[in-house]
Amino acid sequence: MVLQRKFLKEHCLRRVCEKKMFEVADRVKRLPPYLFAEIEKAMKEKKAQGVDLISLSIGDPDLPPPPVVIDALKEEAANLKNHNYSLSQGEPDFREAVAAWCKKRFRVDVSQDEVIALLGSKEGLANIARAFVNAGDCVLVPDPSYPVYNNGSTILNDGIPVPMPLLQENGFKPDLEALNPEKVKMMFLNYPNNPTSATVDKKFLKHAVEFARENNIILCYDNAYSEITFDGYRAPSILEIDGAKDVAVEFHSCSKTFNMTGDRIAFAVGNKQLISGLAKVKSQIDSGPPVYIQKVAAKALESYKSDKPPDFLKKNNRTYAERRDVLVDRLCSMGFMCDKPKATFYVWLNCKSSSIEFATKLLSAGVAVTPGIGFGEHGENYVRFSLTQPKERIVEASKRIAALVGCAVS
Ligand SMILES: Cc1ncc(COP(=O)(O)O)c(C=O)c1O
Repeated sequence: MVLQRKFLKEHCLRRVCEKKMFEVADRVKRLPPYLFAEIEKAMKEKKAQGVDLISLSIGDPDLPPPPVVIDALKEEAANLKNHNYSLSQGEPDFREAVAAWCKKRFRVDVSQDEVIALLGSKEGLANIARAFVNAGDCVLVPDPSYPVYNNGSTILNDGIPVPMPLLQENGFKPDLEALNPEKVKMMFLNYPNNPTSATVDKKFLKHAVEFARENNIILCYDNAYSEITFDGYRAPSILEIDGAKDVAVEFHSCSKTFNMTGDRIAFAVGNKQLISGLAKVKSQIDSGPPVYIQKVAAKALESYKSDKPPDFLKKNNRTYAERRDVLVDRLCSMGFMCDKPKATFYVWLNCKSSSIEFATKLLSAGVAVTPGIGFGEHGENYVRFSLTQPKERIVEASKRIAALVGCAVS
């Protein structure tokens, strides 16, 4: 009896402690599983089985950073003055370089206090909601989209995500007329788009700015792929639109432009009040990107001598365009309907079946792609290919897919 009571006491105490110490917050429980972690796990298992896996799933460039980045990194990291804390909003020379780049690239005037350095644009996209979204505020989130708008930004800040369907028949643009702006505090837009690779013109951006201004909505414009464009297309900035600075903040990243995903450096530009709200949040959470990384990124941005991309970027984009052609031509010859995207390093394929089943089938042949459902309900029946493998591997992946669907490709 005594033993039984002792056991029960210890057992219950342990359960209470576990509950008290380890239960995650409700907002964390509301998060859907992080898709890429699931994919990485499945890929790891395949590799452990000795499968020669071709990974076309995660958007991490295989191309190296340009020499300007590597040279600057050696020099700036070796400078002992570059190892102290930075300022919450970023180094003045970095913000100056960003402002000069915006002027050169988009002919947009921004001052230093309209710029903030970020530890990657993912961090900024999540923290902007922390600065402005109250519990119960609605946030318009494209569906499908980069998962951070829905999860890191909205759910983790107790906001309510309201999906904006991106349909193929609308060029993967949201129908702004159909949206109910009631209780909406913030909206996210992203073009060139991940995962659909859709692009927009300034007419659409003008419409979006008008919508945000009329309804007093904060417009977060994610332009992470502005520099990855092909066939003469140049992605615009939302800040080129009259009145955009009243409501908008634009996010750029060195991750894809300069192949610096692991260096964690990006920036946001736009409405001063929005930038300072973001800086206020960040000053309580992080101390900004390392000074030497900001100096490196400044030098990389300074490699733009006009609105045209520097030579290394032209070369990178030719490589992506060649891979895109290899993949899309082969998918079309297998009977799939697939357009050649004008931007990003993604190909968004309507697989006309369950995206998880299709991706699982491809994985069984050693080709990893991302099932569209992971980007939102309207991503179902699509899969995303990342063009982040050499051409020969994409040719090999195409052959494996052709074998699965019973076609022959060269
Ligand atoms: C649309 C989009 N925005 C932002 C990011 C985040 O990039 P980073 O945090 O490396 O700047 C990504 C990364 O894949 C992305 O696809």
